Amino acid sequence: MDKKQINERINKLRQEINFHNYQYYTLDNPLISDYEFDMLLKELEKLEIENPEFADPNSPTQKVGGEITKNFETSKHKFPMMSLGNTYSREELSDFDIRIKKSIGENFKYTCELKFDGAAIGITYTNGKFSKAVTRGDGIQGDVVTANVKTIKSLPLIIEDENIPKEFELRGEIILSHKSFNKINKERAENGEALFANPRNAASGSLKLQNSSLAAKRNLDCYIYALHSEELKFQGHYESLMQAKKWRFKVSEYTKLCNNIDEVFEYIEYWNKKRSELPFDIDGIVIKVDEYEHQETLGFTAKFPRWAISYKFQAERGKTILEDVLFQVGRTGAITPVAVLSPVQIAGTIVRRASLYNSDKINELDLHFGDYVFVEKGGEIIPKIVDVDISSRHPAAYKIIYIDHCPECNTELIRNEGEAIHYCPNSKTCPPQVQGRIEHFISRRAMNIETLGEGRIEVIINNNLVKDIADLYDLKYEQMLGLEKTVIDEETGKSKSISFREKTVSNILTAIESSKSIPYERVLFALGIRHLGETVAKKLSKHFKSINDLRNASFEELVSIHEIGERIAQSIIDYFKNEDNQNLIKRLEQSGIQLEAKEESAEVKGNALNDLSFVVSGVFSKYSRDEIKQIIENNGGKNVSSMSAKTSYLVAGENMGPQKRQKAEELGIPIISEEDLDNMINGNPS
Ligand code: IVH
Repeated sequence: MDKKQINERINKLRQEINFHNYQYYTLDNPLISDYEFDMLLKELEKLEIENPEFADPNSPTQKVGGEITKNFETSKHKFPMMSLGNTYSREELSDFDIRIKKSIGENFKYTCELKFDGAAIGITYTNGKFSKAVTRGDGIQGDVVTANVKTIKSLPLIIEDENIPKEFELRGEIILSHKSFNKINKERAENGEALFANPRNAASGSLKLQNSSLAAKRNLDCYIYALHSEELKFQGHYESLMQAKKWRFKVSEYTKLCNNIDEVFEYIEYWNKKRSELPFDIDGIVIKVDEYEHQETLGFTAKFPRWAISYKFQAERGKTILEDVLFQVGRTGAITPVAVLSPVQIAGTIVRRASLYNSDKINELDLHFGDYVFVEKGGEIIPKIVDVDISSRHPAAYKIIYIDHCPECNTELIRNEGEAIHYCPNSKTCPPQVQGRIEHFISRRAMNIETLGEGRIEVIINNNLVKDIADLYDLKYEQMLGLEKTVIDEETGKSKSISFREKTVSNILTAIESSKSIPYERVLFALGIRHLGETVAKKLSKHFKSINDLRNASFEELVSIHEIGERIAQSIIDYFKNEDNQNLIKRLEQSGIQLEAKEESAEVKGNALNDLSFVVSGVFSKYSRDEIKQIIENNGGKNVSSMSAKTSYLVAGENMGPQKRQKAEELGIPIISEEDLDNMINGNPS
């Protein structure tokens, strides 16, 4: 290809990728498989690297981020980012409607919108290109968070239209779905980091990440709720949103034009019931007089527009007694205070525990034993104590004092400067830390010794057979055979027996043996080094091909790696400085654990899959979806995006849609797992 053809191909790829991003992230209607999409993106990335003269800051390749912002600049909003007056009842909303009618008469409409519970953002487009994103800040000026917002997949970087105003500004809300929020918190828990209290905090925290490639991984989304341009003349708000929608912005499909206040009440009623079915949080409904002409007449108070108001849903709340506070110790030594409550029904479930986050939160609430507390529960978030009814406190009630020694091993707790969480520093012998580390090590995503799960490892630890992860590899058949324990299942309240019969014991030993072939990058994650999650472990294993190389790395070397910050680097240095850890690694090495990277560990080259075609769907545990596709190709197979009678196999992971399974069954396509695929390649009969 000559340069002209390359340029044309680049432009074509950008257009295609933008279109598929739109189909996938905005319309939730993917037209091609992830694999096909990745291939397009890879081709574009390659062409852009090889032909830097065609680089473009608004190319879809930029959605992965990479920019570092040490200090966020501030920027004044072109017009203030106001907030909304709140109403909490039908009466208050009726009063609003009466006020409006008094001023502008009866001839107008309301636009009703969901009130997204996230972080407000103002985004400017200049000559059809994404140019700036600014947080709300104090309403007058906010922080410039362009690099992070640009990574949001549902936000177009370029608008394809002939009549685009020279400049326009969108206002919207950056949100996190429950699914993405839970994923982030799960990773944070695994890394021993403080959890985000709710998706809103996680979304606004993500906007202030210094490294935009980390923001890109958060899966933020953005709903647009206003479009402003001096050059465009719309009759009203709804029409402007429809224009934004045409330009491929994500405008909620539930935005509705209502003819009168009764229709507004219907909308509110509907969403009050249905909001729990949404995949993200909303905290109310926003009601806006639609016509711009009327908005102008109504104007603003000092703080709010007079033409709009929000109707806030009652948070699902319960009142109950705080019976006790437990201090749980995690595998990294982090202390989590948990409130023990008299059981109370909130939003359809019985709540017995609530999160108290840290000592600052307990002090802020000034909690006493036996207090009547208000507990809120929203979406899939852990219930939290939001308030205390001081008037009903017993005069002699004891104040809850935060512990200063570990409740498990009595070691004095530490709290690092600038951190909210207390830690128990006795990582060596503090029982929940020892057990937590071993449990993490054997977990599915780490060494996958799941046969030791469901309480079995606890029995083994309690019988003093295992004190650290290296001891697992010295376990003997005779030591385990016959062990037994009766436990009470927390969920059902029923007792069940854990017993180590012959079959169980031999399964355990087989799984331990198989774990010796788990690749180095997963071993690195399995070690449970603080702040070292799966992604970081993968990254490190690419730079340091063996644990010895990693151990010898200096702080400077570590932080020079893209995405490895000071906190992670320090944690690695501290880990290897510790003599116990050094001995542990030596013993793991002697047991035959993979502590070096194998060349292309996920890839086995061969022709075992010649002439076979595969559809890969769902989430997998051993490999990523792309790795599976790569393995299929490396072994002579073909990946296809949709099933037909000619498809040889459907490789199914977790969460695969029921339609896919049904279609495979109808067409008679065998459904296989990732293990089956491995077996086919390795010649094992399945
Ligand atoms: S309109 C002048 N519409 O709620 C009117 N705001 O208290 C400006 N919000 O921080 C806001 N969903 O970020 C509007 N559909 C929606 C909204 C919405 C969420 C947030 C907004 C602001 C707060 C207003």
